[in-house]
Order: sequence, then C-alpha cells, then structure tokens
Amino acid sequence: DENLSISGPLVKWYEENKRQLPWRETADPYLIWISEIILQQTRVAQGLDYFNRFVGRFPDVATLAEAPEDEVLKYWEGLGYYSRARNLHAAAHQIMTVFGGKFPETYEEVLSLKGIGEYTAAAICSFSYGLPHAVVDGNVYRVLSRLFALDTPIDSGAGKKMFFSLADDLLDRHRPGIYNQAIMELGALQCVPRSPRCEMCPLVVKCRAFADGNVESYPVKQGK
Ligand code: ADE
Repeated sequence: DENLSISGPLVKWYEENKRQLPWRETADPYLIWISEIILQQTRVAQGLDYFNRFVGRFPDVATLAEAPEDEVLKYWEGLGYYSRARNLHAAAHQIMTVFGGKFPETYEEVLSLKGIGEYTAAAICSFSYGLPHAVVDGNVYRVLSRLFALDTPIDSGAGKKMFFSLADDLLDRHRPGIYNQAIMELGALQCVPRSPRCEMCPLVVKCRAFADGNVESYPVKQGK
C-alpha cells in the first residue's frame, strides 16, 4: 500500500544513515523519556553529555524521585529551561505514587505525567512499547509539508490538525518506533531547512515540492 512505499525506503535509509545514540540502543521508557526531554530544546551534540551524566547519577525512576531537587537541577546546569528538570523530578514522584514505581505503559497514562505532551508521549510509547502513535515535531512538519507540498501554515490550528492526521495516516503500524525515528532522522540529516541535497533523498521520487522545484518554501508559517 501507499504507506509502505514511504516507510520502505525511509526505514532502509535510516538503517544505513542513522546516528548511533545511546537512547536508540534501549527500550527503557525511563531512558527514552530523559533523552526526549533533554532534546526538546537542546541539540544532540550538547544533549549527549548531559544525558550520560544525568542517567549515570539517576539511572531509574526511583533514584530520580529520591534525589533532592537541588541536585537534579545541578545536573541540568547549562541546559536552561529549568522547568524541564523540575517537571522530570515531579513526574518521577508521580510515577512512584500513582503508578507504584512502574513507568506507565499506555499513551493516556504517559501523557498524564508532568511535562509530557503529545510529542513526548508518542515518542516514549512508540520507541519503548511499539504503540502506534505518530510523532510530530519540527522535523516531521518539514518532511511532510515538502513531500505533499502542503501550504497550510504549520502554526495554525488547521495546520496542526492536518499534519497530525497525515502523520497518523502514514505511520507504519507494523514498526511505529523505527518509522518514527526514521522520519525524524530524515528531517535532521537529509531534509534540512536550507540547501538539502535532494538527489540523495530516499523519498525524492515521491516529493511534490522537489518536483515543483521549491523545497525551501516549505514549511509554510503564518507567523506573528
Ligand atoms: N531529537 C528528538 N528526539 C530525538 C531522537 N530520539 N534522536 C535524535 N534526535 C532527537
């Protein structure tokens, strides 16, 4: 079907081109959670060191919950957006008290944790549990808007709806975790904002914006 004609070349490209990253070597939802929160406002190159130090000191939910907040914040020093660290600590307590110390295993329960929104819940649930939730981050907006030459502004209500629905339609339900990783990695490494080398792209033959010769005009934003 149409889905596999995207997922097939995309996942093959991912296997051949992905960066080796510690949170890709694990299915532990705790480690994936920490990595995704760090990577929300931090580049991979900088986030790596922080991730390794953080999970070295706080290797699991219980250790994080028991630690004093001051110490958690110390491990965050230099990353900024300290509410992320405070929310991690609060959510660790939530997991101890509400979920008996076991990381929740449904999308709704994961979404109920402090500081976890739709993107992070979809990332954790697909990467750790293989649940069929599509991730939609800035990379995914760019890839999809180019692939289908979508002019609806991504920062509009209608745009958000359209892109979430399209991402869900395209999701490879047989392997949601790797498909999600692959589309984000395509946006990070190949389908970059400026001067993408489209002749190298595994999806070039399907890309409407490439055919139209205007990949750099996507994604469209309404601004202000
Ligand atoms: N940015 C956000 N999530 C990521 C991931 N899992 N791997 C690499 N970069 C990311």
